[in-house]
Amino acid sequence: MTGPTTAVHRGTTSSLGALLSRQGRRDPNPFYAELHRRGPVCALSAQDRFDLVVHGYDAVHQALRDPALHVMTGEYRDRQGGTRWRGHSSLRVLAGSMFLSEGADHSRMRRRFAQAFSARRVAALEPAVKRIVARRLDRLAEIGAGGAPVDLLAEFALPVPSDVVGELLGVPESDRDWFPPRVRAFGAILDLGAGVWRYQQAADAAADELSGYFAELLAARRAQPRADLVSALVTAGDGVPGEDDELIANLVTTYNGGFVTTTHLIGNGTRILLDDPAEKARVLADPARTEGFLREVLRYEPPVHFSTRWAASATELAGTAVPRDSRVLVLLGAANRDPRRFTDPDTFDPGRDEGPPLAFGAGVHYCLGAALSAMEGRIALPMLLRRFPDLALAGEPGERTTLMLRGYESLPVTVS
Ligand code: HEM
Repeated sequence: MTGPTTAVHRGTTSSLGALLSRQGRRDPNPFYAELHRRGPVCALSAQDRFDLVVHGYDAVHQALRDPALHVMTGEYRDRQGGTRWRGHSSLRVLAGSMFLSEGADHSRMRRRFAQAFSARRVAALEPAVKRIVARRLDRLAEIGAGGAPVDLLAEFALPVPSDVVGELLGVPESDRDWFPPRVRAFGAILDLGAGVWRYQQAADAAADELSGYFAELLAARRAQPRADLVSALVTAGDGVPGEDDELIANLVTTYNGGFVTTTHLIGNGTRILLDDPAEKARVLADPARTEGFLREVLRYEPPVHFSTRWAASATELAGTAVPRDSRVLVLLGAANRDPRRFTDPDTFDPGRDEGPPLAFGAGVHYCLGAALSAMEGRIALPMLLRRFPDLALAGEPGERTTLMLRGYESLPVTVS
């Protein structure tokens, strides 16, 4: 028999081949289980694009907090493979954002954007989130009337978080439906594996359009500020050269980071509820349960399975030496299934009290939108169930084959 479980080499060396195979992408968990049997960190084979994979819960936590391990900055890319990547606007936007910055650059950008994510600002968004959810539920009721199957992903899980990020950033309501296809095209290049190059051209086109949109929005708000984030960002600026490019890169990537991730939190969570009528009944009866339920969705079916780092100086992870310049694959999805941390990790148990999953990362790049996405889920799922108590699957969900933004392509349901 071949498959993800047997394709991992014995010893402390492994290969990503099995994870990146069709079967491994569909269900990476057997691969993760095999990795856990080998300890928290493994060296990778020469064919892999990383030198090490980190998958134990504690080791992943350590890796994300280790100042020697940096995100893949533009300077790093230049040094590794030359500057050809700079010809691609999507890669330039990513490299110009806080996601792929370190040190003073990273702190400056993060500080600027953090104002939008304070507990006060997130709480103030709650009425808008409820309004957005209610509007999308009305639409679901309309197109799903009489038992017609509808795609919950396309009609609910995608537009709700997209509208919420639009609201957060200050994108006018009339422009918001323009974003989803472009943001998804931009995000397609973030996955693991050489195959992502086929999405490059579409990602560059999307990056150009999105950057153009935000450049105009910045100019409009600079001329006439409003009570929104973009206005706050431009009025707080120092007017230094490159400042707008930096803001634009962070607006585009924050849109991307806040949108399809939350889509899959809602989509993956809904699927679990539809498969488990008892849990569905419990969440319906007591919306306060949703918090624990969502925490377990984030552990069991996290929307983001990995991040990447490189060693700016030599370091050590869980007793394994990490030489300078090593490329490190950090498997958040595997950490969440580490049997040393979570009892019966392959069992979905919303009642578990074993600490947070690593779905939002850790350390200086810890997700800025963690509280916002949790609030969206806490509002969206109970409202969905209350409005459509007979919500049921109407067919097989579209396959999941990506590891960066991991969720169903479609989720056919009936609402009545
Ligand atoms: C369930 C939903 C979400 C998940 C699973 C998620 C996951 C993550 C992860 C794993 C990271 C760290 C990446 C790394 O260390 O390399 C991250 C960073 C980030 N996320 Fe999220 N995220 C979610 C929702 C959001 C939302 C709603 C927003 C904003 C609207 C957002 C904005 C950001 C930003 C700006 C960063 C970069 C922080 C930095 O580099 O300092 N995320 N997210």
